[in-house]
Amino acid sequence: MDLHGFLKALARRWPTVVVCLVLATGAALAATSLSTPVYEARTQLFVATRTGDDTAQMNQGQSFSQARVQSYAAIVTTRQVTRPVVKELRLRTTPEELASRITAVAPLNTVLIDITVRDTEPKRAARIANAVAQRFSAVVERLEAPKRPPGSERSGKSLRTADGTSPVSLGVTQEAVAPIGPVSPRPLLNLAAGVLGGLLLGAGLVALRETLDTTLKTSEALGEFTALPGLGTIPYDRNVPRQPLVSADGHCHRAEAFRKLRTNLQFSQVDEPPRIIAVTSSVPGEGKTNTAVNLALSLAEAGLSTCLVDGDLRRPCVASTFGLVQDAGLTTVLIGQARIEDVMQQAGGRLSVLASGAVPPNPTELLASARMEEVLRELADTYEVVIVDTAPLLPVADTLGLASFAQGALLVVRAAKTSREQVRTAAESLDRVSVRVLGTVFNMAPVPRGNRYGTYGSYGELPAPRVSDPRKEASAATRLAGEK
Ligand SMILES: Nc1ncnc2c1ncn2[C@@H]1O[C@H](COP(=O)(O)OP(=O)(O)OP(=O)(O)O)[C@@H](O)[C@H]1O
Ligand SMILES: [Mg+2]
Repeated sequence: MDLHGFLKALARRWPTVVVCLVLATGAALAATSLSTPVYEARTQLFVATRTGDDTAQMNQGQSFSQARVQSYAAIVTTRQVTRPVVKELRLRTTPEELASRITAVAPLNTVLIDITVRDTEPKRAARIANAVAQRFSAVVERLEAPKRPPGSERSGKSLRTADGTSPVSLGVTQEAVAPIGPVSPRPLLNLAAGVLGGLLLGAGLVALRETLDTTLKTSEALGEFTALPGLGTIPYDRNVPRQPLVSADGHCHRAEAFRKLRTNLQFSQVDEPPRIIAVTSSVPGEGKTNTAVNLALSLAEAGLSTCLVDGDLRRPCVASTFGLVQDAGLTTVLIGQARIEDVMQQAGGRLSVLASGAVPPNPTELLASARMEEVLRELADTYEVVIVDTAPLLPVADTLGLASFAQGALLVVRAAKTSREQVRTAAESLDRVSVRVLGTVFNMAPVPRGNRYGTYGSYGELPAPRVSDPRKEASAATRLAGEK
């Protein structure tokens, strides 16, 4: 995924980013308000060396202090210091826990030691820091006042004092005072971390979902993936469930899309125009019925005598879409209870509809029967085009038998919903039974932004060519009869 693709994915999946942002910011604010404030009190000690008055001894003393000050800093958190402090201040804690709240640092090339103590009460933090400093000074001075090793008096370079007391003394340069504000939590820092974390999490999730998402988002991607002609792109329109039919004369995007589909279909097979076309798809709900119905309407409005057959015997919807009777139709003819002309219904103009009839218990066998083939052939003899709405290919085997009697199939693919694997499996199953896939119809495609308002209507569109002349029709019928 390149940067452009990622930005487009971000724009499309912005709700994910917003949800992550809100959750992370909320978590940061909750953590800030729930956490106990921690205060930090700081004191500073100066390590002095008791030496003689001459410069050499002073320099020696200075180096001595600098060399030792790091070791002194390590003593601050020992039990020797913390235990008496806990006792003295009657703290409800252990020396080890107190040690974990103390930090001692000796800045390089100085004889200073900074001691900081953290506590949930500002005054107590200062009291502890001062007590630690006092106790620590006493411990160091006691440690630095050992017994004299034998003969050390003769060593001119000794720093030990003549009276055997400690050569170092620690003085407080800065006493700890109760801090005004807490060091944690830091609301602004937490908020910034929450916002940044939320954005990063959102962007990461978008990238992950995009990588795992194998659906087809554009008609170009569909064309590249299937290598089939893209005969139409039908835009998503939320009014479709209420208003499934479009008028070919309409000026909405869907009307224009179905006109284009009709034109592309007619131009794509000029030499051998298919007369029986099955409209199918991989999985349920991709828009087969809607495409079949509107394509049939569009062909009829272009002057072609068209028959629409409801070949979906699992979820028949064609009759209800036109407000026609469903109970008498294809299955009635297949079981020999009626002739085609007895159950054929008119949907206005040149469009006739053969509804599904009663739903049978064995749709797969009925649709693959020799009688079904005969019915389709009879219809193709009577009408210029026969459009057959079908059941989806992957969940049931009904359509494979039926499609093998058609002269071509249209594969409907729902934008951003049908996976590549589903499209591939559907196309392969049609190929296995030697059904010619005329092309794809990319349904429920997002409407391009610039195209949302206004349309040029049928500007520049050529009049729809008729399928064939009567002589050609007759020869096509003969050819069909010969093929079957
Ligand atoms: N271009 C579109 N824009 C918006 N909604 C659509 C579009 N095409 C179809 N729909 C809606 O999608 C749903 C499924 O459509 P349709 O019944 O045509 O699919 P189907 O493939 O025939 O489903 P099934 O497999 O159940 O027969 C319906 O509610 C329909 O109104
Ligand atoms: Mg359907």
